[in-house]
Amino acid sequence: MIAKPRIPDLLPEPGGPVGRPVPRVDGRLKVTGAARYAAEHPVPGLLHGYVVSAAIARGRITGIDTAAALAVPGVIEVFTHRNRPDLARFDRTWQDGDAPRGSPFRPLCDDEVQFSLQPVALVVADSPETARYAARLVEVTYEAREHRTDLHAHRHDSFTPGKAKGGFEPPPPPRGDPDRALALADVRIDARYTQATEHHNPMEMHATTAVYHDDGTLTVYDKTQGAQNTRSYICKVFGLPASAVRVLNPFVGGAFGSGLRPQHQLFLAVMAATQLRRPVRVELSRPQMFSFGHRPETIQRVALGARRDGRLTALIHEAVQESSRHETYVEIVVNWSGQQYRCDNVRLDYRLVRLDRATPLDQRAPGAATGVPAIEMAMDELAFALDVDPVDLRLRNYTDTDPNTGKPFSSKELRACFAQGAERFGWARRRPRPRSMRDGRELIGWGVAAGVWDAMQGRATARAVLGLDGRLTVSSATADIGTGTYTVMSQIAAEVLGLPVEAVTFRLGDSDLPTAPIEGGSWTVSTVGSAVKAVCDRVRARLFDLASAMDGAPLGGAGARDVTFAGGHIVVTADPVRRVSLTDVMRSGGLPAIEEEAMSLPYMVARSRHTLGTHSAVFAEVRVDEDLGTVRVTRVVSAIAAGRIINPRTAASQISGAVVWGIGMALEEETIFDHTLGRCMNHDLAEYHVPVNADVPEIDVIFVDERDTVVNPLGAKGVGEIGIVGVPAAIANAIFHATGVRVRDLPITLDKILMRQEE
Ligand code: MOS
Repeated sequence: MIAKPRIPDLLPEPGGPVGRPVPRVDGRLKVTGAARYAAEHPVPGLLHGYVVSAAIARGRITGIDTAAALAVPGVIEVFTHRNRPDLARFDRTWQDGDAPRGSPFRPLCDDEVQFSLQPVALVVADSPETARYAARLVEVTYEAREHRTDLHAHRHDSFTPGKAKGGFEPPPPPRGDPDRALALADVRIDARYTQATEHHNPMEMHATTAVYHDDGTLTVYDKTQGAQNTRSYICKVFGLPASAVRVLNPFVGGAFGSGLRPQHQLFLAVMAATQLRRPVRVELSRPQMFSFGHRPETIQRVALGARRDGRLTALIHEAVQESSRHETYVEIVVNWSGQQYRCDNVRLDYRLVRLDRATPLDQRAPGAATGVPAIEMAMDELAFALDVDPVDLRLRNYTDTDPNTGKPFSSKELRACFAQGAERFGWARRRPRPRSMRDGRELIGWGVAAGVWDAMQGRATARAVLGLDGRLTVSSATADIGTGTYTVMSQIAAEVLGLPVEAVTFRLGDSDLPTAPIEGGSWTVSTVGSAVKAVCDRVRARLFDLASAMDGAPLGGAGARDVTFAGGHIVVTADPVRRVSLTDVMRSGGLPAIEEEAMSLPYMVARSRHTLGTHSAVFAEVRVDEDLGTVRVTRVVSAIAAGRIINPRTAASQISGAVVWGIGMALEEETIFDHTLGRCMNHDLAEYHVPVNADVPEIDVIFVDERDTVVNPLGAKGVGEIGIVGVPAAIANAIFHATGVRVRDLPITLDKILMRQEE
């Protein structure tokens, strides 16, 4: 019942706004400060909550003395597990749409401490300063139990996670005899790769403003990637009907996965607001951003065997990753290796270790950003051992069929990524031998790596209203976490109806809008974009029907395939003087507005017969100070194959942002634990290093042509995550090329380079 067959199924060919570098439609609001974030909505009589965080990693709270805090003028209440309301008890009630299997953390539930920095009290006061000051006066005493936070120390106490929730695909069964093939290989690589824990630090810290209304309903401004996920969590936990809760997130200051699940500030703000019957805001401090999920620490082994000609004969990729005790968090780490390279003898293995830490959490390209660097560093090691160019080695093991499933890729222009990226970078001028390129005391290195990510799709609904003023409003309860959703959805709608982008308003970030899933996994263009196209196709079909029935036959009996929608008109393509404006069509039909709603229709059957993914080839140049071991990334070229690019400007911005983060993964980002305390020690941006402007070079983004008629009616795959995947290995490989030192432990800090240089 969606798009009628006489309407062209794929998007029209270029000419309209799709494919153009349209500036962000919300750009002005953002740069003028008019865009409001979760902690910025003005509310009269607002109270402020400040979180008190646990000082131990595991144990019981034996006492909480709140008297001193309560005595501070301006303090309204201190909530602890002793005076919080009696709420839902079942795990299911606390599981949000992105929850892994297990028992979700419940703030202030009881006297148990499950991880360091867990919230143990909330001080509510009439100003943020008072709340923060009083929070320091809350005295908590504990009975600590033995804890474990060290993945390396406990890596052998691991288990294979069973069936997991969500899109998790367990590693496929082994193929051939990988151990024997490895033993018999002409050339072997067998090494361990590690990557540190990394915490989410989007610019906007997590915050919730919960407005309690006298009739018992709530308006909640939350930092979230899914307003409806947040609403359903609140409704289940607090026993409220959906009609009593409205969640708004019109602007999100970066999220990268940290807003896929409701975080504890949401619960605390809503609890305080409903208990006090007042509006309450809870905003986490920067150190408290380290008090919930993170990219899990990972230990991997990659073993490769190859013939002299570079063909892989054995591929073993094993990963051990952390999860919490209370939930079983899984991601796809090793499967990518078996998907990227052709090899007859393969074993992929993924295991978990339970630690007393917060449950890990999706972070940009979860799993791929961890697992792909390991295989891509190993491939570089193999290329060196074989004396084969690293690009060439990857092409010798290239595959157009997914070896994990036997299915063809719906499209995979990775060869073009290598070719165009190499050309732009000047790869042909690379001298293969390490330490062979230098400039004074700086060693220069060039490295390459491939990247891969899914092209997922979910189901979303969109509504479109075309008014007599010629303006089109399209809405869906998705989010724009900085990716450009407002802009690309406006472009898709404008394209289908032949309107200028300025004539379209796209609304999102409101749980009352038509159903959409959480914005994540790079699936929003595909999921919501397809719904936007479907609903605009319906409007288009209605307009055409009305025009065909008009007196005077302005279209002269032309069929649906003979007309173009352009400039606010329906135009007979072969005879453009025959035309009629959309508003005239509506007037003739006596319609003040045309309103339609539609759900995205994924090409389920076609999709299920293919492996769908985005691909990249990343080329990086580093300069390493030979004496100091300091690394500067001086150039990056990232060539991306992600189907049709709806907006090359916002898409390139996704990719360059991801390259910046990849530099962080390669060189800087690392949450350092004191395992005696079970606590992270560098929980602020002074000591948890992320790249700053001075660390970021020229970034060159290429989108290669990729036609895909399987992914969705747009031919677009989404680019939110692919940009980071190849970057850490490209930089690590460039460091090896510069120095001859192979560091397999991310981040590659200067001490690791200097120490191995000594060896
Ligand atoms: Mo992404 S980790 O799904 O925001």
